[in-house]
Amino acid sequence: MAASVDKTLAEQSVLSAEQVAALFGEVHAEAEADLRGVLNEKQFEEFRNHWLGRKAGVVTKITDNWLKPAPGDLKKAVGQEFNKFKVALEAVIKERRAAIEAGAEEVASAKDRVDLSLPGVVRPLGSRHLIRQVFQEIEDIFFSIGFSVVEGPEIETPYYNFEALNIPEHHPVRDDMDTFYMELPKNAPGQLLLRTHTSPMQIRTMEKQKPPVRVIVPGRVYRRDNPDATHSFAFHQVEGLAVDTDITFCDFTGTIEYFVKQFFGANVKTRFRPSYFPFTEPSVEFDVSCVFCGGSGTTASGTCGKCKGAGWIELFGAGMVDPAVYGFVGYDPKKVSGFAFGIGIDRLAMLKYGIDDIQAFFQNDVRFLKQFP
Ligand code: FA5
Repeated sequence: MAASVDKTLAEQSVLSAEQVAALFGEVHAEAEADLRGVLNEKQFEEFRNHWLGRKAGVVTKITDNWLKPAPGDLKKAVGQEFNKFKVALEAVIKERRAAIEAGAEEVASAKDRVDLSLPGVVRPLGSRHLIRQVFQEIEDIFFSIGFSVVEGPEIETPYYNFEALNIPEHHPVRDDMDTFYMELPKNAPGQLLLRTHTSPMQIRTMEKQKPPVRVIVPGRVYRRDNPDATHSFAFHQVEGLAVDTDITFCDFTGTIEYFVKQFFGANVKTRFRPSYFPFTEPSVEFDVSCVFCGGSGTTASGTCGKCKGAGWIELFGAGMVDPAVYGFVGYDPKKVSGFAFGIGIDRLAMLKYGIDDIQAFFQNDVRFLKQFP
């Protein structure tokens, strides 16, 4: 600024009213230029202090250095120009202040604004695991023919897992079910193990309930099996048990075939093969025609890899409940008869959904899980 507010008018050789007006014109222009650089609240505060500050602001200095010491013949002109300047300064300040506030509001409302036309935030929802879905499918089928669902403990005693199922301590069939035993304190009353099958629930159910019994038992079981494409150390079974006064082998085959046709479709063929379980007599393995090659044993690329050319796939073990088992639960073997089965659910799901590695069920890979919403 050529005009100095720190010097008196006399010191600046301002002697006429015209010179006074010119001087205020300069100050006015300076104030407007200054104000144009004010873009936010902080700069606005600085501007106010510089121009209007009570102790050392430009307006105070003009009062002290120009107005008060002005010689008598100039006082009126200085007073008038000064008033004009103050009114003009007030007006531009007001204007600027409004512009800044409007700008700030705009910025704030842009931040808060909700644009309803934008796509929403998609939060991925989980879904039930395929094994859980297959459990449900099986439960629905058996529920529709009068079975109810019960569940039992995964930590069992050897009595329920083996002895009461007619598998005494040194029976070789225990070798087929390599078992995880719990490490217990030395003074523990007995051994505990992770159940190797859902069959202990046959015993627990019959202990609690008199015939007729019609239950299925979905659950997780454990065996010390080495993991590969069809074996896991933790897997799933659904046990079935029906006991009444007049249940025959025909009821058994009819029930199983009904289930398999409901689950895989009417075209699937079924067969029984003789087998052995200590807790059923007679015992069978139940096979279905291979769903991958339609039972022919071959596909376009040669031998069917799923049934290894046999045309049949083993689904589960089953049989008529061995009369010896009734002795453990206080049923009269002369009056009751029944059947039981134990389905490996993981392999059943693999067959139905064309999954070639059982480990996929346990890896929690979202790319796999998403295929079964
Ligand atoms: C049993 O577990 C008997 N409790 C079934 C039973 C119940 C027979 C009632 C008679 C009456 P098994 O050991 O065969 O049987 O096993 C049944 C099914 O479990 C097998 O057919 C297979 O599908 C599945 N399974 C067995 N071991 C494994 C494993 N390591 N990984 C995945 N599935 C398995």
